Amino acid sequence: MTQVFNFSAGPAMLPTAVMEKAQQEFLDYDGMGASIIEISHRSKEFDAIINATDSLLIELANIPDNYEILYVHGGAQMQFAAVPLNLIKRNSARKAAYIETGNFAKLAAKEATRYGEISIAASSAASNYDRIPEFDPSVVDANTSYIHITSNNTLYGTRWQQFPATGDIPLVADMTSELLSRTVDISQFGIIYAGLQKNLGPAGLACVIIREDLLKHALAETPGLLNYKTYAEQHSLANTNNTFAIYMMKLVLEWLRDQGGVASIESQNDSKAALLYEVIDNSEFYLGVAHREHRSTMNVTFNLVNDDLLDQFLTQALEHGLYALKGHRDVGGVRASIYNAMPRVGCETLADFMRDFENNNR
Ligand SMILES: Cc1ncc(COP(=O)(O)O)c(C=O)c1O
Repeated sequence: MTQVFNFSAGPAMLPTAVMEKAQQEFLDYDGMGASIIEISHRSKEFDAIINATDSLLIELANIPDNYEILYVHGGAQMQFAAVPLNLIKRNSARKAAYIETGNFAKLAAKEATRYGEISIAASSAASNYDRIPEFDPSVVDANTSYIHITSNNTLYGTRWQQFPATGDIPLVADMTSELLSRTVDISQFGIIYAGLQKNLGPAGLACVIIREDLLKHALAETPGLLNYKTYAEQHSLANTNNTFAIYMMKLVLEWLRDQGGVASIESQNDSKAALLYEVIDNSEFYLGVAHREHRSTMNVTFNLVNDDLLDQFLTQALEHGLYALKGHRDVGGVRASIYNAMPRVGCETLADFMRDFENNNR
């Protein structure tokens, strides 16, 4: 097998130890003589898996008692609809405010317009989302049902370093590309959601962390399987859920606990990202996409000052075992997605390659 360092933005690499464990157990889960993907979502074995996943997440993310954990169909973008369906009616004005920090934030706001009056309270569109815009929560009407942010912007490589204090208005965050990569005070949020495919497991499912008191506002027309209350009441098993994805998430969380938990992975992530930002900052050959103060530790984005060299950069990178570095088509350039599972040596190898490429092409 050819081993590469996989910088894919998502679906993204999972820890090798997790993949090996899944492979080991695949044909025969826990001595049952059957695979995890062949057994009932109502079996006692799966029940133990989903309970363990909950407990690990509570411990790792330090989730307070008054929050529910849901495993919701349809990945992150389905939550772009589920959030307004479940929350827009919290206030009869049916208003919500969105902060536009990239394409996913924009899509989330657009989807929400089907259900209420959506305002863009701040936007960095004018500078092509190279930063998090200034946002003063006091400009938002008090009768707004919720305020939505995208905490880490996967395409542009920006993140909120601090989260806005929104008082009585619940703060909702799409944390798809950073949940469990940094310590977060969950109590600051009404809802956090994340597609699993970056730091949590395979694609197709979203993990939703919701404050209990927000479970009672769904619009009457909300489909049962988009109603967060259905998930909360039936432990995400109102129908046949993606048992394999939940099982994989459990393995990822066990791995994260073995790494020392979120605070420990956060400091590893900071230093991994610093290896790449250091090359960018000390070069006139590379140009970072994101403003320094708003940089992500999950997605490092940059351009080559001479864009004509981009194809050569990507081809040679691949020859060095550095896979999936092409930037998103809306942004161009290079994007290195370095989620929790990316080993430090992957970032070191990329940083060395960047320096060598610069020296050979300057
Ligand atoms: C921040 C963010 N939100 C939403 C999505 C969409 O996720 P999904 O494809 O699971 O709908 C992504 C996917 O990369 C993302 O990075």
